[in-house]
Amino acid sequence: ADLTVVVVAAGSGERFGHPGGKALVEVAGRPLVAWSLLAADAAPSVAALVLVCRPADLAAMEALVAGLPLALPVAVVPGGDDRQASCAAGLDAVSSEVPLVAFHDGARPLVRPHTFEAVAARLRADASLGGAVAGCPCTDTVKVVRDGTVSATPDRGNLWVVQTPQAFPIEVIRAAHRRARSVGTDDASLVEAMGLPVAVVDAQRNNLKLTYPEDLAVVEAALLAAER
Ligand code: C5P
Repeated sequence: ADLTVVVVAAGSGERFGHPGGKALVEVAGRPLVAWSLLAADAAPSVAALVLVCRPADLAAMEALVAGLPLALPVAVVPGGDDRQASCAAGLDAVSSEVPLVAFHDGARPLVRPHTFEAVAARLRADASLGGAVAGCPCTDTVKVVRDGTVSATPDRGNLWVVQTPQAFPIEVIRAAHRRARSVGTDDASLVEAMGLPVAVVDAQRNNLKLTYPEDLAVVEAALLAAER
């Protein structure tokens, strides 16, 4: 096993409309974040887990982790004000002896063990890569919109929707965080800014993120179907 998985679950849950954050909201019979921890724990490449949570949730998360049937050790650490700060906090808890690290959104409970395997395998197969991220080709047409009006329609053939897990050699992502000049919405963008190639792995079409209240029914139905 050569991969540490950092599950980031320190968001405020503002768009979900749940003031206490959504990580502990019950989805298909388990707290939301439990699904991601169980999937990562079941992936053969994973050596250790880090869970990044809201400071107010530390005790509840420790109790959750203690009650789950996990084989791997889990470090629970407090996150920051934005996703990037939470990832940096998680990275501080990662052992440098494990060569690869993957970040995963705790809000993506449908992730399967094979998706962690796929991003790690892509990195192992090509030492020139700065990262490997899960995603899939875009099926919707995407517009660049300025002030409510379309300013461009990029060729859909070149567009991918990326998700998590996003995996990196540990020293690459550490350097990327040290050099970060602005806040991005994913981890790979920090590595891209260093000029390093990032591979996309055509992974899982149903790796949905629970963001809005209306996502709950869809995510729950997909989880229940996958568990059957
Ligand atoms: O905001 P977004 O939907 O991109 O968040 C994706 C993931 O990042 C969620 O799992 C959320 O809990 C996490 N996050 C975090 N710390 C923040 C903001 C978001 O760990 N300050």
